[in-house]
Amino acid sequence: MSLGFLREFFKSPGSVGAVWPSSPALARAMVRAANVAAADFVLEIGPGNGAFTGPILDSKRPGARFVAIEKSPDLARAVAGRYPAAKIVAGCATRLAEHIDGSPDSVVSGLPWAAFAESLQDAIMHQITAALHPSGTFATFAYFGPHRLKAGRAFRSKLGAHFRDIRRTPVVLANIPPAFVYYCRK
Ligand SMILES: C[S@@+](CC[C@H](N)C(=O)[O-])C[C@H]1O[C@@H](n2cnc3c(N)ncnc32)[C@H](O)[C@@H]1O
Repeated sequence: MSLGFLREFFKSPGSVGAVWPSSPALARAMVRAANVAAADFVLEIGPGNGAFTGPILDSKRPGARFVAIEKSPDLARAVAGRYPAAKIVAGCATRLAEHIDGSPDSVVSGLPWAAFAESLQDAIMHQITAALHPSGTFATFAYFGPHRLKAGRAFRSKLGAHFRDIRRTPVVLANIPPAFVYYCRK
């Protein structure tokens, strides 16, 4: 457990959205669901302390591009320190188009959607769908249980408004709390 992550949570709980980073098992499920191994350009949004970043870098093809966008400058600096060869941008997903060049065909989101106001969810989702390659995959996780509550159901409807094909992985129990991955295509 990284102290930097915990510190960021107490500084901006509405932005970090979780006290505990995702587990290696959830990272593996994200990487598989987002089809990282077959992608030409992988975009990670909200890497935090890098729970998904390492598994993405280990799984992507050697020639594939990788960019991560992290809103917290401290976490962006920390994750860039852990993965010096990776391009980590300190920036906001609401301005995705300014930070990337080209169309990612695999987008891995670590964003805490449930902590966001609906207007922020819409702004980011709009940026993601505009950037995603037409045949690309967008993957994001949801905690099992809260996904049945009003906010969780509203987020699932939002995915339905932006993507034609939405699937779910089995629940990853080896995560605190247990979670599953939505993986979506336009
Ligand atoms: C719940 S943490 C997830 C970290 C890591 N991916 C994991 O699953 O353990 C969410 C991360 O998203 C970042 N974040 C929140 N809003 C963002 C935004 N608008 N643009 C980019 N990153 C954002 C936060 O700073 C935080 O590092």
